[in-house]
Amino acid sequence: MALPSEAAAMDASGDQFGQRPFLEAELYRSASVAERERQVYAPRFWHPVAPLSSLPEGSALPLELLDQPLLLTHPPGGPPRAFLNRCPHRGVALLPPAQAAQPCRRLICPYHGWTYDLGGSLRAAAREAEFVDPFAREDWPLIQLACAVRGSMLWVSIGQDPLPLEHQLDLVEQELGPALERPRVLLASLESELACNWKIAHDNTLDDYHVAIAHPTTLHRQQGPVRHYRHRFADHTNLLATPVPLQGSGADAEAPEFLTFGAPPWIHLLAWPDGRLALISFPPRDLGRCRLQVWLLGDPAQTDLGEAWIEELRSFLDEDRALVESAQRGYTSGLTPGPAHRLERRILHQQALYARITGLEPPFSARA
Ligand code: FES
Ligand SMILES: [Fe+2]
Repeated sequence: MALPSEAAAMDASGDQFGQRPFLEAELYRSASVAERERQVYAPRFWHPVAPLSSLPEGSALPLELLDQPLLLTHPPGGPPRAFLNRCPHRGVALLPPAQAAQPCRRLICPYHGWTYDLGGSLRAAAREAEFVDPFAREDWPLIQLACAVRGSMLWVSIGQDPLPLEHQLDLVEQELGPALERPRVLLASLESELACNWKIAHDNTLDDYHVAIAHPTTLHRQQGPVRHYRHRFADHTNLLATPVPLQGSGADAEAPEFLTFGAPPWIHLLAWPDGRLALISFPPRDLGRCRLQVWLLGDPAQTDLGEAWIEELRSFLDEDRALVESAQRGYTSGLTPGPAHRLERRILHQQALYARITGLEPPFSARA
């Protein structure tokens, strides 16, 4: 964590990130790099997996995180939990993949019937007296993963030693303060796949150079003139803030702001002045594909806005899809990336963090 004075220095301009070039294209097309990301980069961070409002008490939700089957549960009267969705006996998933949480009191393995409570403790095994060796239920709990709630989302860590979540989201916490913890519900969501390396999708969503050109009638209208952009950079998260003009007021200085945060490992958080939040994540599928996950969160009274809101986001996400999938073809056809623009410093900021965590400092190609 930077000392306050260091953070203040970074806030001034973010210019220190302009000293480095874009990551080399080889990092986007190397299988050994993708493996290093799996082993070193992803485990260092927390991953948003589902809104808290989608996991009521007394329910379980199977899902996938980075090809690992996970099981979220919410024991009555307790905090939500995350487990590997894998029976300790012979490895079968306790629940098959599902779109939504299912009400349940017990998790019963479909193979040999071992039965777990929502806290992950084994409560019963079939023919328990007849195991080859002495058998004790307490020796066979589900394997638990660290799980946290922040911003009305559930976050899971797949590593033993993740960065504290409040450090991962440092600027989000600083800028939103207590407003981050205002209770929100899922208003709408979106999930699809992009035919590009996750870094191309992450770079694109950090790219403040392209918005006026590539999204003239969509995101650019939301973010407004480039001259009003305000940037901040902290250790892990960066920010583009743009004024939202007050109805009937021309005073930009007093206007509330639309906040676009970029955070590791591949996350973006958008915050509107009326309290709505959008969380976007690009977890990798393989070298040339990633998932696009979008959760729209807001006050229960804003539920009616959900569908219109997702359509609004979909319009610029579709514009981006064409660009990132085209850039993927460019990266895999021998590109050497060109020079970075000042409006691309948020990309350089996240790339510097990536290089530091993975140990893949430039020049990578000289060592590969
Ligand atoms: S694999 Fe679950 S009870 Fe055997
Ligand atoms: Fe874009």
